[in-house]
Amino acid sequence: MENPDYKNVYRYQVFFRTKKGGCGIEYETAKAEFLSVFGENDTEFIWEYPGRMRMDIKIKYPPEIVRKKAEKLGYTMGITRVYEEPYRGAALYSYRTGRWALGWIRKGDNKILLTEVYRQDEDKILENAPDRRTFLLEQDGSVSEVKGHRKRRGVSPNDAKFILNIARLQGKEVILDPFAGLGGLVIECVERGFKVHATEIDKSLRPGLADFSDNQLAIADARKLPFRDKTFDSIITEPPFDIKYRQDVLDSISELQRVVKSPGKIVLFIAADMHDQILEKMKYANFQLDADFKIRRHSKLMSHVLVWSI
Ligand SMILES: C[S@@+](CC[C@H](N)C(=O)[O-])C[C@H]1O[C@@H](n2cnc3c(N)ncnc32)[C@H](O)[C@@H]1O
Repeated sequence: MENPDYKNVYRYQVFFRTKKGGCGIEYETAKAEFLSVFGENDTEFIWEYPGRMRMDIKIKYPPEIVRKKAEKLGYTMGITRVYEEPYRGAALYSYRTGRWALGWIRKGDNKILLTEVYRQDEDKILENAPDRRTFLLEQDGSVSEVKGHRKRRGVSPNDAKFILNIARLQGKEVILDPFAGLGGLVIECVERGFKVHATEIDKSLRPGLADFSDNQLAIADARKLPFRDKTFDSIITEPPFDIKYRQDVLDSISELQRVVKSPGKIVLFIAADMHDQILEKMKYANFQLDADFKIRRHSKLMSHVLVWSI
Protein backbone atom coordinates (compact mmCIF):
# COMPACT_ATOMS: atom_id res chain seq x y z
CA MET A 1 0.00 0.00 0.00
CA GLU A 2 1.24 3.46 -0.83
CA ASN A 3 1.37 6.50 1.36
CA PRO A 4 3.05 9.08 -0.86
CA ASP A 5 3.29 11.83 1.67
CA TYR A 6 5.04 9.48 4.02
CA LYS A 7 7.43 7.83 1.52
CA ASN A 8 7.91 11.00 -0.48
CA VAL A 9 7.39 9.03 -3.70
CA TYR A 10 4.42 9.61 -6.00
CA ARG A 11 2.81 7.34 -8.57
CA TYR A 12 1.61 8.71 -11.91
CA GLN A 13 0.16 7.54 -15.21
CA VAL A 14 1.74 9.37 -18.13
CA PHE A 15 -0.16 9.58 -21.45
CA PHE A 16 1.85 10.48 -24.52
CA ARG A 17 0.33 11.97 -27.65
CA THR A 18 -0.88 9.30 -30.05
CA LYS A 19 0.00 9.49 -33.73
CA LYS A 20 -2.57 11.36 -35.79
CA GLY A 21 -2.89 10.90 -39.53
CA GLY A 22 0.52 9.24 -39.55
CA CYS A 23 2.18 12.29 -37.89
CA GLY A 24 3.92 12.18 -34.57
CA ILE A 25 6.52 10.14 -32.77
CA GLU A 26 7.12 6.67 -31.38
CA TYR A 27 6.60 5.68 -27.74
CA GLU A 28 10.36 5.49 -27.05
CA THR A 29 10.85 8.99 -28.45
CA ALA A 30 8.08 10.50 -26.29
CA LYS A 31 9.56 8.69 -23.30
CA ALA A 32 13.02 10.06 -24.08
CA GLU A 33 11.57 13.58 -24.11
CA PHE A 34 9.84 12.97 -20.77
CA LEU A 35 13.08 11.71 -19.23
CA SER A 36 15.04 14.67 -20.54
CA VAL A 37 12.77 16.92 -18.45
CA PHE A 38 12.15 14.68 -15.40
CA GLY A 39 15.53 12.90 -15.27
CA GLU A 40 16.39 9.22 -15.79
CA ASN A 41 17.64 8.80 -12.24
CA ASP A 42 14.51 10.28 -10.68
CA THR A 43 12.03 8.15 -12.64
CA GLU A 44 11.18 4.57 -11.69
CA PHE A 45 9.08 2.58 -14.14
CA ILE A 46 6.20 0.49 -12.82
CA TRP A 47 4.70 -0.53 -16.16
CA GLU A 48 4.98 0.51 -19.79
CA TYR A 49 2.29 0.26 -22.49
CA PRO A 50 4.00 1.33 -25.76
CA GLY A 51 0.96 0.36 -27.87
CA ARG A 52 -1.21 2.68 -25.78
CA MET A 53 1.45 5.42 -25.59
CA ARG A 54 1.31 5.28 -21.80
CA MET A 55 3.63 4.52 -18.90
CA ASP A 56 3.11 4.18 -15.12
CA ILE A 57 5.92 5.57 -13.02
CA LYS A 58 7.05 6.50 -9.56
CA ILE A 59 8.76 9.80 -9.11
CA LYS A 60 9.83 11.98 -6.21
CA TYR A 61 8.04 15.11 -7.47
CA PRO A 62 4.69 16.15 -5.97
CA PRO A 63 1.79 17.04 -8.34
CA GLU A 64 2.42 20.80 -8.44
CA ILE A 65 6.02 20.29 -9.58
CA VAL A 66 5.01 17.60 -12.06
CA ARG A 67 2.46 20.00 -13.58
CA LYS A 68 5.02 22.79 -13.94
CA LYS A 69 7.62 20.54 -15.55
CA ALA A 70 5.05 18.87 -17.83
CA GLU A 71 4.14 22.24 -19.35
CA LYS A 72 7.52 22.15 -21.11
CA LEU A 73 6.79 18.85 -22.86
CA GLY A 74 5.66 18.60 -26.47
CA TYR A 75 4.53 14.98 -26.65
CA THR A 76 3.03 14.35 -23.20
CA MET A 77 -0.72 14.82 -23.35
CA GLY A 78 -1.71 14.21 -19.75
CA ILE A 79 -0.60 12.97 -16.35
CA THR A 80 -2.81 11.48 -13.63
CA ARG A 81 -1.79 10.79 -10.07
CA VAL A 82 -2.41 7.31 -8.67
CA TYR A 83 -3.11 6.89 -4.96
CA GLU A 84 -3.81 3.43 -3.56
CA GLU A 85 -5.32 2.39 -0.23
CA PRO A 86 -7.29 -0.60 1.15
CA TYR A 87 -10.83 -1.09 -0.13
CA ARG A 88 -13.33 -1.22 2.73
CA GLY A 89 -16.54 -1.81 0.83
CA ALA A 90 -17.94 1.65 0.03
CA ALA A 91 -19.34 2.42 -3.44
CA LEU A 92 -16.69 3.72 -5.87
CA TYR A 93 -17.25 6.26 -8.64
CA SER A 94 -15.09 7.00 -11.66
CA TYR A 95 -15.56 8.59 -15.07
CA ARG A 96 -13.60 8.82 -18.30
CA THR A 97 -12.36 12.10 -19.65
CA GLY A 98 -10.73 11.63 -23.05
CA ARG A 99 -8.01 8.98 -22.78
CA TRP A 100 -7.95 8.58 -19.01
CA ALA A 101 -10.29 7.75 -16.11
CA LEU A 102 -10.61 9.85 -12.97
CA GLY A 103 -12.09 9.00 -9.56
CA TRP A 104 -11.98 5.83 -7.47
CA ILE A 105 -11.58 2.37 -9.02
CA ARG A 106 -11.27 -1.06 -7.40
CA LYS A 107 -8.04 -3.08 -7.69
CA GLY A 108 -8.18 -6.38 -5.82
CA ASP A 109 -8.19 -5.68 -2.08
CA ASN A 110 -7.35 -2.04 -2.69
CA LYS A 111 -8.98 1.02 -4.21
CA ILE A 112 -7.20 3.54 -6.39
CA LEU A 113 -7.84 7.25 -6.64
CA LEU A 114 -6.96 8.80 -10.01
CA THR A 115 -6.67 12.59 -10.11
CA GLU A 116 -5.68 14.75 -13.06
CA VAL A 117 -2.38 16.54 -12.55
CA TYR A 118 -1.76 17.84 -16.04
CA ARG A 119 -3.62 18.12 -19.35
CA GLN A 120 -1.99 19.66 -22.41
CA ASP A 121 -3.73 22.84 -23.50
CA GLU A 122 -5.00 21.90 -26.97
CA ASP A 123 -6.39 25.40 -27.63
CA LYS A 124 -3.01 26.98 -26.97
CA ILE A 125 -1.30 24.47 -29.26
CA LEU A 126 -3.74 25.29 -32.05
CA GLU A 127 -3.43 29.02 -31.45
CA ASN A 128 0.35 28.84 -31.87
CA ALA A 129 0.33 26.42 -34.80
CA PRO A 130 2.07 27.65 -37.97
CA ASP A 131 -1.26 28.03 -39.81
CA ARG A 132 -2.66 30.35 -37.09
CA ARG A 133 0.42 32.29 -35.96
CA THR A 134 0.61 35.91 -37.01
CA PHE A 135 3.83 37.27 -38.44
CA LEU A 136 5.11 40.72 -39.49
CA LEU A 137 6.01 40.44 -43.15
CA GLU A 138 7.81 42.99 -45.34
CA GLN A 139 6.37 43.21 -48.83
CA ASP A 140 7.07 45.92 -51.43
CA GLY A 141 8.59 48.18 -48.79
CA SER A 142 5.75 48.01 -46.30
CA VAL A 143 5.16 45.80 -43.26
CA SER A 144 1.89 43.97 -42.65
CA GLU A 145 0.66 41.38 -40.18
CA VAL A 146 -0.12 38.09 -41.89
CA LYS A 147 -1.57 34.86 -40.57
CA GLY A 148 -0.42 31.35 -41.44
CA HIS A 149 2.31 32.59 -43.79
CA ARG A 150 4.08 29.60 -45.47
CA LYS A 151 2.54 27.39 -42.84
CA ARG A 152 4.10 24.16 -44.08
CA ARG A 153 7.58 25.58 -43.46
CA GLY A 154 7.06 26.44 -39.79
CA VAL A 155 7.86 24.09 -36.93
CA SER A 156 4.87 23.08 -34.77
CA PRO A 157 4.80 24.21 -31.10
CA ASN A 158 5.05 20.57 -29.94
CA ASP A 159 8.05 19.85 -32.13
CA ALA A 160 9.74 23.09 -30.98
CA LYS A 161 9.26 22.01 -27.36
CA PHE A 162 10.48 18.51 -28.13
CA ILE A 163 13.63 19.84 -29.83
CA LEU A 164 14.47 22.20 -26.96
CA ASN A 165 13.92 19.40 -24.43
CA ILE A 166 16.03 16.73 -26.03
CA ALA A 167 18.79 19.33 -26.58
CA ARG A 168 19.25 19.12 -22.78
CA LEU A 169 20.63 22.64 -22.38
CA GLN A 170 21.64 24.14 -19.04
CA GLY A 171 19.54 27.32 -19.33
CA LYS A 172 22.13 30.07 -19.79
CA GLU A 173 23.26 29.27 -23.33
CA VAL A 174 23.37 31.84 -26.12
CA ILE A 175 21.67 30.21 -29.10
CA LEU A 176 21.76 30.81 -32.85
CA ASP A 177 19.01 29.74 -35.27
CA PRO A 178 20.65 30.31 -38.70
CA PHE A 179 17.62 29.15 -40.75
CA ALA A 180 15.12 31.00 -38.56
CA GLY A 181 12.21 31.12 -41.06
CA LEU A 182 9.00 32.09 -39.32
CA GLY A 183 10.59 31.82 -35.91
CA GLY A 184 8.99 28.70 -34.37
CA LEU A 185 12.24 27.69 -32.65
CA VAL A 186 13.15 31.28 -31.80
CA ILE A 187 9.81 31.74 -30.01
CA GLU A 188 10.36 28.60 -27.91
CA CYS A 189 13.95 29.65 -27.02
CA VAL A 190 12.75 33.11 -25.91
CA GLU A 191 9.90 31.57 -23.90
CA ARG A 192 12.45 29.52 -21.99
CA GLY A 193 14.57 32.57 -21.22
CA PHE A 194 17.48 31.86 -23.57
CA LYS A 195 19.33 34.62 -25.40
CA VAL A 196 18.71 33.82 -29.04
CA HIS A 197 19.99 35.23 -32.32
CA ALA A 198 18.24 34.58 -35.61
CA THR A 199 19.59 34.69 -39.15
CA GLU A 200 17.59 34.09 -42.31
CA ILE A 201 18.21 34.59 -46.02
CA ASP A 202 14.69 35.81 -46.88
CA LYS A 203 14.49 39.60 -46.36
CA SER A 204 10.70 39.57 -46.19
CA LEU A 205 10.90 37.78 -42.83
CA ARG A 206 13.02 40.52 -41.22
CA PRO A 207 10.31 42.39 -39.22
CA GLY A 208 8.66 39.22 -37.90
CA LEU A 209 11.95 37.71 -36.78
CA ALA A 210 13.14 41.01 -35.30
CA ASP A 211 9.91 41.10 -33.31
CA PHE A 212 10.32 37.56 -31.90
CA SER A 213 14.07 37.80 -31.24
CA ASP A 214 14.13 41.24 -29.61
CA ASN A 215 16.02 42.57 -32.66
CA GLN A 216 18.74 39.92 -32.50
CA LEU A 217 18.27 39.31 -36.19
CA ALA A 218 20.50 39.43 -39.27
CA ILE A 219 19.60 38.76 -42.87
CA ALA A 220 22.38 36.39 -43.89
CA ASP A 221 23.23 33.25 -45.80
CA ALA A 222 23.89 30.35 -43.42
CA ARG A 223 26.88 29.46 -45.61
CA LYS A 224 28.53 32.76 -44.69
CA LEU A 225 27.46 33.80 -41.22
CA PRO A 226 28.33 37.31 -39.97
CA PHE A 227 29.78 36.08 -36.66
CA ARG A 228 33.23 35.40 -35.27
CA ASP A 229 34.43 31.85 -34.64
CA LYS A 230 32.97 30.24 -31.49
CA THR A 231 30.32 32.90 -30.81
CA PHE A 232 27.40 30.68 -29.70
CA ASP A 233 26.96 28.00 -27.06
CA SER A 234 24.39 26.18 -29.16
CA ILE A 235 22.91 26.14 -32.62
CA ILE A 236 19.31 24.96 -32.87
CA THR A 237 17.79 25.08 -36.30
CA GLU A 238 15.53 23.62 -38.95
CA PRO A 239 17.16 23.98 -42.38
CA PRO A 240 14.93 23.82 -45.48
CA PHE A 241 13.53 20.37 -46.26
CA ASP A 242 13.17 20.95 -50.00
CA ILE A 243 15.59 18.87 -52.03
CA LYS A 244 16.56 21.94 -54.11
CA TYR A 245 18.31 23.39 -51.01
CA ARG A 246 20.08 20.18 -50.05
CA GLN A 247 23.53 21.24 -51.26
CA ASP A 248 23.17 24.68 -49.60
CA VAL A 249 22.33 22.99 -46.30
CA LEU A 250 25.29 20.63 -46.60
CA ASP A 251 27.53 23.59 -47.46
CA SER A 252 26.35 25.45 -44.34
CA ILE A 253 27.43 22.72 -41.90
CA SER A 254 31.07 23.83 -41.68
CA GLU A 255 29.85 27.39 -40.98
CA LEU A 256 27.64 26.16 -38.12
CA GLN A 257 30.62 24.24 -36.75
CA ARG A 258 32.77 27.37 -37.00
CA VAL A 259 30.49 29.66 -34.98
CA VAL A 260 29.73 27.22 -32.16
CA LYS A 261 31.86 27.17 -29.02
CA SER A 262 33.60 24.14 -27.58
CA PRO A 263 32.05 22.79 -25.42
CA GLY A 264 28.89 23.43 -27.37
CA LYS A 265 25.96 21.79 -29.13
CA ILE A 266 24.44 21.64 -32.59
CA VAL A 267 20.82 20.52 -32.86
CA LEU A 268 19.31 20.03 -36.32
CA PHE A 269 15.75 19.22 -37.36
CA ILE A 270 16.31 17.86 -40.86
CA ALA A 271 14.64 15.99 -43.68
CA ALA A 272 15.35 12.26 -43.46
CA ASP A 273 17.01 12.22 -46.89
CA MET A 274 19.83 14.48 -45.62
CA HIS A 275 20.48 12.36 -42.55
CA ASP A 276 23.45 10.26 -43.70
CA GLN A 277 25.36 13.06 -45.43
CA ILE A 278 25.00 15.39 -42.44
CA LEU A 279 26.07 12.66 -40.02
CA GLU A 280 29.18 12.15 -42.10
CA LYS A 281 30.06 15.88 -42.06
CA MET A 282 29.59 16.16 -38.30
CA LYS A 283 31.63 13.04 -37.60
CA TYR A 284 34.43 14.33 -39.78
CA ALA A 285 34.63 17.47 -37.59
CA ASN A 286 34.73 15.36 -34.39
CA PHE A 287 31.25 16.22 -33.16
CA GLN A 288 29.77 13.49 -31.00
CA LEU A 289 26.22 12.36 -31.78
CA ASP A 290 24.22 12.39 -28.52
CA ALA A 291 20.72 11.72 -29.89
CA ASP A 292 18.94 10.84 -33.13
CA PHE A 293 15.11 10.81 -33.08
CA LYS A 294 12.61 10.34 -35.90
CA ILE A 295 9.52 12.53 -36.29
CA ARG A 296 6.89 12.17 -38.99
CA ARG A 297 5.89 15.73 -39.94
CA HIS A 298 3.29 15.21 -42.64
CA SER A 299 1.95 11.88 -43.81
CA LYS A 300 4.97 11.20 -46.01
CA LEU A 301 7.60 13.59 -44.68
CA MET A 302 10.02 11.83 -42.35
CA SER A 303 12.48 13.93 -40.40
CA HIS A 304 15.18 13.53 -37.78
CA VAL A 305 16.14 15.60 -34.77
CA LEU A 306 19.87 15.21 -34.22
CA VAL A 307 21.86 16.46 -31.24
CA TRP A 308 25.65 16.72 -31.31
CA SER A 309 28.10 17.99 -28.77
CA ILE A 310 31.73 18.99 -28.98
C1 LIG B 1 12.18 25.07 -42.72
S1 LIG B 1 12.33 26.81 -42.71
C2 LIG B 1 12.61 27.17 -41.01
C3 LIG B 1 11.34 27.15 -40.27
C4 LIG B 1 11.46 27.66 -38.85
N1 LIG B 1 12.08 26.69 -37.97
C5 LIG B 1 10.06 28.04 -38.35
O1 LIG B 1 9.57 27.49 -37.38
O2 LIG B 1 9.45 28.86 -38.99
C6 LIG B 1 13.89 27.07 -43.44
C7 LIG B 1 14.27 28.51 -43.67
O3 LIG B 1 15.60 28.56 -44.17
C8 LIG B 1 15.71 29.69 -45.04
N2 LIG B 1 16.90 29.50 -45.89
C9 LIG B 1 17.02 28.79 -47.04
N3 LIG B 1 18.30 28.83 -47.48
C10 LIG B 1 19.00 29.57 -46.58
C11 LIG B 1 20.36 29.94 -46.46
N4 LIG B 1 21.27 29.57 -47.37
N5 LIG B 1 20.73 30.70 -45.41
C12 LIG B 1 19.82 31.09 -44.47
N6 LIG B 1 18.51 30.76 -44.52
C13 LIG B 1 18.11 30.00 -45.56
C14 LIG B 1 14.39 29.69 -45.79
O4 LIG B 1 14.12 31.01 -46.29
C15 LIG B 1 13.41 29.24 -44.70
O5 LIG B 1 12.79 30.36 -44.11
